[in-house]
Amino acid sequence: MKILYVTSEASPFCKTGGLADVAGSLPPALAANGDDVAVILPLYDQISLDWKEQMTFRGNIYVDLAWRHEYCGLFSLEYKGVMWYFVDNERYFRRGQLYGEYDDGERFAFFSRAVVSLLPQLDWMPDVVHCNDWQSALVPIYIKDESVRREDVRGIRTMLTIHNIEYQGQFSESSVCDLFGLDFGWYADGTLEMNGCVNLLKGAMLCADSVTTVSPTYAKQLHYSFYAHGLENIVDMIGDKMEGVLNGLDVEGFDPATDKAIACNYTADNTAGKVACKAELQRQLGLNQDSSVPVMAIVSRLVSHKGVDLICQVLDGMMDTGMQLVVLGKGDVGYENFFRAAQERYPGRVSAQIAYSDKLSRQIYSGADLFLMPSKSEPCGLSQMIAMRYGTVPIVRETGGLADTVRSCQAGQKNGNGFTFANYNEYDMLYAIGQAVAMYRDNRKTFAAVQKNGMTDDFSWGASARSYRNIYASIVG
Ligand code: GLC
Repeated sequence: MKILYVTSEASPFCKTGGLADVAGSLPPALAANGDDVAVILPLYDQISLDWKEQMTFRGNIYVDLAWRHEYCGLFSLEYKGVMWYFVDNERYFRRGQLYGEYDDGERFAFFSRAVVSLLPQLDWMPDVVHCNDWQSALVPIYIKDESVRREDVRGIRTMLTIHNIEYQGQFSESSVCDLFGLDFGWYADGTLEMNGCVNLLKGAMLCADSVTTVSPTYAKQLHYSFYAHGLENIVDMIGDKMEGVLNGLDVEGFDPATDKAIACNYTADNTAGKVACKAELQRQLGLNQDSSVPVMAIVSRLVSHKGVDLICQVLDGMMDTGMQLVVLGKGDVGYENFFRAAQERYPGRVSAQIAYSDKLSRQIYSGADLFLMPSKSEPCGLSQMIAMRYGTVPIVRETGGLADTVRSCQAGQKNGNGFTFANYNEYDMLYAIGQAVAMYRDNRKTFAAVQKNGMTDDFSWGASARSYRNIYASIVG
């Protein structure tokens, strides 16, 4: 089978969030199963020169977007058994950031139109085009639209994966013809219309042959308004067309046995190196050098849906358990300042690193004992899997992918790999934290068993890649 994966970011080329991790590791896993796989993404200015020097220029075309006529270059490189295509237009992609520009709608409409226009220039015509989030949601719509006129795209099947339903790509009614270059009928018949404006995610959910999201629990939760941000009726409407496939983790990229960023390598069978990582982390971040104190880590965007408000409410209660706390992340200024102030109030016990840093995050995953992730909603979440792989025991709220990856050890369950709580409530969270700290202090043998369960769990892409393969096969028929 021939699969074209369309994404607005992919590791190791460019990354703002979890989509990049998925786009960087699912396509190689699909290719390893024997399919032809290519990925297409924008050629952002942020992609390093090292990568750009490895690219081959494949030619250029002009892309029509309503009344616009735009240059579109195509570059490619081969990496991990996959062909990676890059769409070049400096006016749209030579910017200070990947997203958050005033004309994001136009930038990603251009990208989506370019993908469909470039199909004949690629090495092969795909059987399936697999799109992700609102940035490429126009692709299934354009393919459907062009099928009427273009024989070559008529047989292509499409899939949309929703990584976070909060971001839907909403634009004014006038954008249908003037920006996206579509007939107004797409809006008038309700495909693109939602509450008086254009909703690209809704349009793609209706047009794609298959819709997936990134964990089975999140797929179920999307039938409820609390999680679906207004699209619950559409989720109901598409019924069986939608399913949840749990993301995997790049288990080679995140391996404490080989990770060069950490102080000392270790494995599930011999965790001695983790003790050294903890000592180094405490030294580096100016925490009191004491190996008996549990170090709890938070590596997260500091925004409310990650559950940061719960942490703010009971921080003192958390510190009363005797733990040390390390926070790494950026986000809402109020939260950033809260953790800066906490570091002042608890010298030697709290370290607030208001930054994004891949290297420091790995040092934290390896050096901490506990990992806190109390998300309000979490489509899949990767950090809890990384933490477990590095032997850092997670404490999570039972939602979305957290519920699908973390098994509670609290009531003496033998195969537990972490601590969980159900309600979005700061005292329930604090109770679970208390249980974790107590186990670390008083029952080190059981704690080590929980730690080992997480380290030896299989989070690799193998099973998920097979699930995707089955869905592709079912829509291609
Ligand atoms: C989004 C979700 C996150 C998920 C990631 C990859 O960032 O918020 O939960 O892990 O996409 O699918």
